[in-house]
Amino acid sequence: MTSAPLTDQERQAQLDADTLRQLVGLVEYDASRDPFPVTGWDAVVFVVGNATQTAHFYQSAFGMELVAYSGPETGNRDHKAYVLKSGSCRFVIKGGVAPDSPLLDHHRAHGDGVSDIALEVPDVDRCVAQARAAGATVLEEPHDLTDSFGTVRLASIAAYGDTRHTLVDRSAYIGPYLPGYVARSSAYRKRDGAPKRLFQALDHVVGNVELGRMDEWVNFYRRVMGFVNMAEFIGDDIATDYSALMSKVVANGNHRVKFPLNEPAVARKKSQIDEFLEFYGGPGAQHLALATNDILRTVDAMRAEGVEFLATPDSYYQDPALRARIGEVRVPVEELQKRGILVDRDEDGYLLQIFTAPIGDRPTVFFELIERHGSLGFGKGNFKALFEAIEREQERRGNL
Ligand SMILES: [Fe+2]
Repeated sequence: MTSAPLTDQERQAQLDADTLRQLVGLVEYDASRDPFPVTGWDAVVFVVGNATQTAHFYQSAFGMELVAYSGPETGNRDHKAYVLKSGSCRFVIKGGVAPDSPLLDHHRAHGDGVSDIALEVPDVDRCVAQARAAGATVLEEPHDLTDSFGTVRLASIAAYGDTRHTLVDRSAYIGPYLPGYVARSSAYRKRDGAPKRLFQALDHVVGNVELGRMDEWVNFYRRVMGFVNMAEFIGDDIATDYSALMSKVVANGNHRVKFPLNEPAVARKKSQIDEFLEFYGGPGAQHLALATNDILRTVDAMRAEGVEFLATPDSYYQDPALRARIGEVRVPVEELQKRGILVDRDEDGYLLQIFTAPIGDRPTVFFELIERHGSLGFGKGNFKALFEAIEREQERRGNL
């Protein structure tokens, strides 16, 4: 077994293995038998309608730091791109500048969304060979990009919808992001007393796929990338009555990279997944879960900057059955209730979580904040508990 070596991004963020076990459920595994070894996340690339303003939003509202930039001033006449970091998590925000930029077509089709979930791998060529043999579509063959900071080796494979996974080996590179980018720090100044950062790592990225295709994509990640199933499974037993979705989770060997995959389920009302598929124009990344070690402080800081979170009914906290399910957590339930933070518990421990409203104009991409305490789940219990709480309220109003 290897002891899950830290990535450069984690080292730079001063995270250690114990912290990561707590934050994102990092586990040890034997990479030598992995057909497609993945070290961890490299970056989440967003295509948006206005990268300049979106980059400001992630700095002011999400507390991220600008670290690199590419645009017309650096010789990139096609688009602007801002690279932002928080802990070991890296976002790249791109927006088209040239009227014929392909990014503008992407934005026309999908609105603001995630175009690329880039993964750090130790051997790009080996991964692409495995992916091709397993039937994946290779969008970009392995190639080098070089500048004065060294060489990065890259390739891309197609995932669900227009989403791709760029595979990145940056072991011979010391630049701020990729060749073509220059280091850039922010003119934005945090408010006095603002926390150094609001989240430390990316925990999971959820993909919404078409009705009946969840298992196909679960098998894609298993077959092509050697991912394994995680325990959490939301079946139509819950879905039909409450959540209107089916969900399975796959993860890479060390569990840094976790992909829950949802498909819509037939329900009393239109499924939230159907709504996403309609407004995103097909499958895509639905939400990104950001790991924090202090969700109360993170929620308070984000709310102070105007980030909107989904409301949780008071009945969720007051119901004796739910109180028993929540059990003992590190803060009084009243503190969670004040902020609408949800609790889920399983045999390994518990987690605290909350979801933002969609961050763009379309009802598509949103964020989750997650604080794990032993639990390796994704909040399955909250699907049922939340919908039951809502139904109890409905019943009280005589509308059920
Ligand atoms: Fe989630």
